[in-house]
Amino acid sequence: MAAVSKTFEHVKATILAAHGGTEPGVKVNFYNSWAETYDQDVALLDYRAPSLAVNGISSHFSGDREAAVVLDVACGTGLVAKQMKRHGFGHFVGIDGSEAMLMLARESGLYQDLKQSMLGEEPLPVQKGLFDVVVIVGALSVGQVPVGVVRELCKSTKPGGHVCMTTRRNHANVEYKAALERELKQMEAEGLWTCVEVAEVEDWERGVSEEEVGYVSGAVYLYKKL
Ligand SMILES: C[S@@+](CC[C@H](N)C(=O)[O-])C[C@H]1O[C@@H](n2cnc3c(N)ncnc32)[C@H](O)[C@@H]1O
Repeated sequence: MAAVSKTFEHVKATILAAHGGTEPGVKVNFYNSWAETYDQDVALLDYRAPSLAVNGISSHFSGDREAAVVLDVACGTGLVAKQMKRHGFGHFVGIDGSEAMLMLARESGLYQDLKQSMLGEEPLPVQKGLFDVVVIVGALSVGQVPVGVVRELCKSTKPGGHVCMTTRRNHANVEYKAALERELKQMEAEGLWTCVEVAEVEDWERGVSEEEVGYVSGAVYLYKKL
């Protein structure tokens, strides 16, 4: 029997079914069940966060891309590393809480190392001050990775290295986004890093809830560690 091809409505239903859970463990279980069709499904959502983040990194990174070591936090199936490879980066370490997403990242062959870790519940399982670029895409939002984890991202970055983060500006994520921005500014005031660029993007991805007609907006934050 021929496989039934999915539509945007199918993907919307899948995501909305998981919207109730705001516990990170519950969300990660959802990703375990979603992993196999994640890449095809987010293409239907016109999910542009990986390419928007990587374009931002690429336009500000002036070092040796082939030698640079990139930490891809909440790496999922590997969409960010895939984009970064296209921009000439060659060394990737990935972290995610979901075993099933990590399995697909492993199959991509893009990562030198992959680690399972629940962000917010334990320290990042990597050496401090090691990475030229630290990136987290699609995971800083309500019910996923707590805001406080951005301090850990900064700690794992080399002085002079870049930290790139994204978040959405949809209805459910308004308070989280405000808390994230307070923390980013507070860390700048503490002399931990300096803001390179904040890009607010209107057509981030297709919205899935009742309040979201058309596209939701989002933002890319790029900081340089001092
Ligand atoms: C929307 S996906 C983004 C994956 C990838 N960065 C991308 O842009 O395609 C969110 C990822 O974050 C992971 N995640 C969410 N909350 C987490 C947490 N608290 N600890 C570890 N991983 C988490 C999920 O397992 C999932 O792989």
